[in-house]
Amino acid sequence: MADKKTFYITTPIYYPSGRLTIGNAYTTIAADSMARYKRSQGYDTFFLTGTDEHGLKIEQKAEKAGIKPQEYVDNMAKQYKELWKKLDISYDKFIRTTDADHVKSVQKIFEKLLKQGDIYLGEYTGWYSVEDEEYFTESQLKEVFKDDNGKVIGGIAPSGHKVQLVKEPSYFFRMSKYADRLLKYYKENPDFILPHSREKEMVNNFIKPGLEDLSVTRTTIDWGIPVPSDPKHVVYVWIDALSNYITALGYGSDDDSLFKKFWPADVHLVGKEIVRFHTIYWPIMLMALDLPLPKQIFGHGWVLIYKDKMSKSKGNAVYPESIVDRFGLDALRYYLMRAIPFGSDGSFSPEDFVERVNFDLANDLGNLLNRTVSMINQYQAGLVTKPASQDDLGSDLAKVANETIVEYQKQMDALHFSQALDAIWKFVGRANKYIDETTPWVLNKEGKTEELARVMANLAESLRLIAIMISPIMTESPAKIFAQLGLNFEDEAQKALEFGAFSWNVKVTEKPTPIFPRRKKDEEVAYIKEEMAKAVSKKQTRSEKKAAEMEEEKNYISIDDFDKVQIKVGQVISVEAVEGSSKLLKFQMDFGDEKRQILSGMHKFYPDFEELVGKKILAVTNLKPRKMMGMESQGMLLSSEKGKKVKLAIVGDEHDLGALLG
Ligand code: ME8
Ligand code: MG
Repeated sequence: MADKKTFYITTPIYYPSGRLTIGNAYTTIAADSMARYKRSQGYDTFFLTGTDEHGLKIEQKAEKAGIKPQEYVDNMAKQYKELWKKLDISYDKFIRTTDADHVKSVQKIFEKLLKQGDIYLGEYTGWYSVEDEEYFTESQLKEVFKDDNGKVIGGIAPSGHKVQLVKEPSYFFRMSKYADRLLKYYKENPDFILPHSREKEMVNNFIKPGLEDLSVTRTTIDWGIPVPSDPKHVVYVWIDALSNYITALGYGSDDDSLFKKFWPADVHLVGKEIVRFHTIYWPIMLMALDLPLPKQIFGHGWVLIYKDKMSKSKGNAVYPESIVDRFGLDALRYYLMRAIPFGSDGSFSPEDFVERVNFDLANDLGNLLNRTVSMINQYQAGLVTKPASQDDLGSDLAKVANETIVEYQKQMDALHFSQALDAIWKFVGRANKYIDETTPWVLNKEGKTEELARVMANLAESLRLIAIMISPIMTESPAKIFAQLGLNFEDEAQKALEFGAFSWNVKVTEKPTPIFPRRKKDEEVAYIKEEMAKAVSKKQTRSEKKAAEMEEEKNYISIDDFDKVQIKVGQVISVEAVEGSSKLLKFQMDFGDEKRQILSGMHKFYPDFEELVGKKILAVTNLKPRKMMGMESQGMLLSSEKGKKVKLAIVGDEHDLGALLG
């Protein structure tokens, strides 16, 4: 038997630096819909998503939270997986760039490219903002300062902070070497980059003007994959991130059977802002590794809020949880896939969202189901029977149904989710119209039982096909529709998708419930807007809350921490000034069972230091000994500040020599 057809689809791996928005959900739901569709078409499908966990931003976030970067990304990855579960994302693998096998493979890839001369050591020059801890190119700066000769000598980062010119050693990827091969590949594979307009952008803006070599390591960042042959460098961003698409399949590891089976990818779904990395750097990396290129990169547009870019600080970010909890998962999945044609920018607006829930879902689809099931109960005691024959209206409905299926498949195959749903909803409209044309209540009055049974059968069959077609995109409603029709989803999924394959003689549910309740528009719009506003004022996401708790924890030490510190009562045997130091005094101290030399910067505060002889002073005695001015100090005398002065912690005779404090 021939091997099953395979299909490999990916999302970008997201930076786990904050909460995921409906923007991230958009890509992931699209990928999930496609994966489900391909599975339903009999493809052996592999759907990959994950997290891009290295880099400065993560390092900073973790530091702010007072936890190790690894702990920070562990928390975030867990949170992301929970969200994907809530959104019914059926990924086959969730890759994390901190996975040990990914790290190893990236190191192998790097060393191979280095060895064959595609990567070389050079010097990175860029503008660095200390406050932002971020690198900028000259063109990214908000403002530049020039000297009299017009040379840029400084500038201002987008944040308003000053930048300085930095030069640091960095490894570079020789991109230019592969430019011609890449252009040739674009020509020979006209659907490599979709939508087509994005290919022109890449060629004209980046490749034709001459590809610059890409800086691929940093020495100023710790949180990254070390370069094995030069470990003060860590791999910087793209070699690490892009490789995920092959390391996830086991490329470079002992078991690369998935890689053999699924590579090259059928499609990488990405947002338009990272099309460049996926259509230029990634193919070039693969050419250098002598691997086949992915079949397609689809750069979809942005989900805008009204007409604006989504951003937390603007207070217009929409988080998927708040929508799903209120309106159900399918409302979100339907809206994102219907309202924003894949490939173009589109907007989410609370008003439009609630209207679509009311019109498309509650009215069009919800009512069709509700009316149909109610009539079958009313006119046929709940039974759906096979029609003896079709009349003109029935034949036409069947014809439209089969045409819809063809159109739906054509659009889904092209990742045109919105157009696929358009086709389905046209058919929903056609089925609703069929009720008006056939007027079942009149047929009932006139006792035309055979005709009535045919109309009911045709409606039930239409609903069955609709439920199957929406099932890759909407994951909850189909089961509800089938249950109300008295059908079983698993059985239906086995059948050919065509009009007339209904499992006749089933009984519909006696009490149909609306699958999409109608909403009060004003109330719901206000709710969504409140949620958007809350996201700014509340500020604390779950991981941030955890971070705040840990921050507070940092104000305390445990009793175990305290027990580690050994504080003893010591008596000054002798004290003298340290030659060559204006501050240091050298104490010889008696702690009962032991004597210690302790250096302390007290000269300024005790000019008449001889008077300290015989005094009892508290000292920490288990600090690691350290050298000062070439002499060892075996402890630390305790003291407190008094105005500008410092006073040693001298205690009275009620404390015994050598006594341990606690
Ligand atoms: O770029 N509209 O990660 P990232 C549509 N780690 N899509 C949106 C969106 C919006 N408003 N907001 C986010 C990275 N996205 C890198 C990728 S891949 C090897 C490395 C989606 O967390 C969209 O898919 O910034 C976009 O490309 C991605 O999230 C950016 O995610
Ligand atoms: Mg990004």
